[in-house]
Amino acid sequence: MTKENVFISGASRGIGKDIALLFANNGYKVIGTSRSDFSIDDNLDNFIPLKLDITSRNDIKDCFDYLKSENLLPNILINNAGITADQIFMRMKDEDWDNVIETNLTGTFNLSKIFIKNMIKNKSGRIINISSVSGLMGNPGQVNYASSKAALTGFTKSLAKEVGSRNITVNSVAPGYIDTDMTSFLDNDAKDKIINNIPLGRIGVTSDISELVMFLASDEASYITGQTISVDGGLLMY
Ligand SMILES: NC(=O)c1ccc[n+]([C@@H]2O[C@H](COP(=O)([O-])OP(=O)(O)OC[C@H]3O[C@@H](n4cnc5c(N)ncnc54)[C@H](OP(=O)(O)O)[C@@H]3O)[C@@H](O)[C@H]2O)c1
Repeated sequence: MTKENVFISGASRGIGKDIALLFANNGYKVIGTSRSDFSIDDNLDNFIPLKLDITSRNDIKDCFDYLKSENLLPNILINNAGITADQIFMRMKDEDWDNVIETNLTGTFNLSKIFIKNMIKNKSGRIINISSVSGLMGNPGQVNYASSKAALTGFTKSLAKEVGSRNITVNSVAPGYIDTDMTSFLDNDAKDKIINNIPLGRIGVTSDISELVMFLASDEASYITGQTISVDGGLLMY
């Protein structure tokens, strides 16, 4: 696959930022988005930061039209943007359920739906969804989040079966605990408890995820599709 355009949602910080930088530093043209204005490295002229809320279909359509007019439609889509709104189930508010499902699951649908047409036309593409270990093993306080991420597994398998004949692969990466803003609320005691359950004995770093994403986007991964690959230090073993 030639190094073309990569679209990454949630690229302003954390895992998405690391993925964006890795691709940009490897010569890809990267379109990275978040809900707020941002920049990640002013020296990278092949990185285009865009403000985009992936829950707004109107804004996504405007973004699509802009990228099309600039010949920037992606052949690699990385659905990374995600949120949590943790609460025990009995206290979970309707909006905490709705917002998490709308961002993590429907946002992935929105972006995949609009960008896959061009991949089908070109008979080439990669879609990589960032899921979570929570969606595979469950986690108290995360009924909304775990449901949204578990659904990505079905999304990934079903879409992979539909578009495999068009030379498009669809995979998910399921991180365990990674050191980002999303996990910054954990105090040292909580971190120690988590680490006790991780065979590799540490919380992950963003590059643990971005390196796998880069591989899944590469020619070398052209025979891998429909998979959800865990990167969690061994926290979950089948
Ligand atoms: N960190 C972990 O331990 C961990 C573990 C498992 C899975 N994950 C998954 O990995 C992905 C990245 O997590 P992270 O830890 O890097 O999170 P993070 O540091 O909180 O960053 C989340 C990114 O998503 C963006 N975002 C959130 N809602 C959005 C929306 N509606 N539209 C567009 N952008 C949006 C945020 O930017 P704005 O707020 O400016 O929009 C930010 O760029 C998520 O899908 C998360 O569920 C993380």
